Amino acid sequence: MRDVLRDRIAVRRARAADATEVAALVGAYAAEELLLPRTPAHIALAIDDYVVATDARGRVLACAALREYSPSLAELVSVATTREAQRRGLGRLVVAGAERLALQRGYASLFAHTVSPEFFAAIGYQPADRALFPEKAARDHTLCVRRDLVAVDDALAVAA
Ligand SMILES: CC(C)(COP(=O)(O)OP(=O)(O)OC[C@H]1O[C@@H](n2cnc3c(N)ncnc32)[C@H](O)[C@@H]1OP(=O)(O)O)[C@@H](O)C(=O)NCCC(=O)NCCS
Repeated sequence: MRDVLRDRIAVRRARAADATEVAALVGAYAAEELLLPRTPAHIALAIDDYVVATDARGRVLACAALREYSPSLAELVSVATTREAQRRGLGRLVVAGAERLALQRGYASLFAHTVSPEFFAAIGYQPADRALFPEKAARDHTLCVRRDLVAVDDALAVAA
């Protein structure tokens, strides 16, 4: 967290201008089958569903996105931190930002199919039965995690 303060990290909703950087970040891990691929065009179209963490120069260091599954449930997708910025709390920050966005949108729970269950366990997600969230595109090597959201502070709305 000290690094986060020193580097003046901002967590905010993604904007159209972030789409290229978000696509590069997600694409690097998709190439290793750690994330599902998203085309730059898809990301640009869905940019309102993304939250990013940026450094003092405005560079995107981490991202996370919501994908509606039902009116009360959303999937957390494209959770990524650049390799250079990992293990400094940015993944936790963008997921927290996506959770605030989810609460604003009225979702009660989030789930994710992930190859990083240890990360999700560290930030409060529980293992879940993947049969509860059938997902055509879920890969065999992923595990399913979920978290029920609790509104703790309405003032925590994620910055636009
Ligand atoms: C998973 C990922 C997003 C984590 O991002 P990060 O910025 O390094 O995570 P943070 O620094 O916020 O870590 C939050 C907590 O998770 C833990 N954590 C992070 N990665 C971990 C790992 N691979 N194994 C075990 N614990 C991990 C951290 O130790 C920290 O716990 P703490 O607060 O108790 O110390 C990042 O490693 C990544 O982009 N991986 C490739 C893409 C991917 O797998 N995405 C998830 C699939 S949806």
